Amino acid sequence: MLIPDIIIAIDGYSSTGKSSFAKIIANEFSFLYLDSGALYRGVTLFAIENGFISDDNTINVPGLSGALENLDLHFAAGGTFIGDRCIENEIRSLAVAGKVSPIATVAEVRNFVDRKLREFGSRKRVVMDGRDIGTTVFPDAELKIFMTADPLIRAQRRADEMKAKGMEADMEDVLRNLQERDYIDSHREVSPLTQAEDAIVLDNSHMTMQDQLEWLKGIIAERFGC
Ligand code: CDP
Repeated sequence: MLIPDIIIAIDGYSSTGKSSFAKIIANEFSFLYLDSGALYRGVTLFAIENGFISDDNTINVPGLSGALENLDLHFAAGGTFIGDRCIENEIRSLAVAGKVSPIATVAEVRNFVDRKLREFGSRKRVVMDGRDIGTTVFPDAELKIFMTADPLIRAQRRADEMKAKGMEADMEDVLRNLQERDYIDSHREVSPLTQAEDAIVLDNSHMTMQDQLEWLKGIIAERFGC
């Protein structure tokens, strides 16, 4: 299937399978995949390790904002790195998940991540997933998808994914974490999680990845005529 040079923005709730879907899309259409959540998670790991966020999630905003100037956070070889250290597994832990949404409320953190995302997006043929891609980062994205699914199904999928990676995952902890993140993400002042007016909703509670791809191909054929 042919697809023009566009930006595909995928936003939605935690653990709705945005990144898995985005990877499949990237593979199917030879697009570049960018995981904006990985950058927020990377900043969070950096903040934890450098004492910019306390146990009760109080954030030293001036300290963190200043330190971001020298933070070399980037994607390489399909993973997330700080300098030459691969942080891909650490950023998926519940320790990071428990602090990422507070960190993502900080305007300076959002500017830092947005700058990186826009640099990548300038080349088009990009699929990006997050919370505010279609509303704030790329409001002109040609195709916007808003993903949602039943919270219990989401928690089960995330727990299975963590267990498959050899990480500990208690269903209740995972469910609580994703509900907390959904709440903070939807209620924050800067770029909250909301559905863009021109986004198409995808509830994948009872869909396989193959179903989702067929659904998307139907939309692409309709929109772009190929
Ligand atoms: O994989 P999952 O959907 O659980 O989360 P993620 O995409 O890795 O994002 C982790 C967290 O980063 C979210 O809960 C948000 O707090 C924040 N985030 C954001 O604020 N804006 C984005 N564009 C992407 C992530």
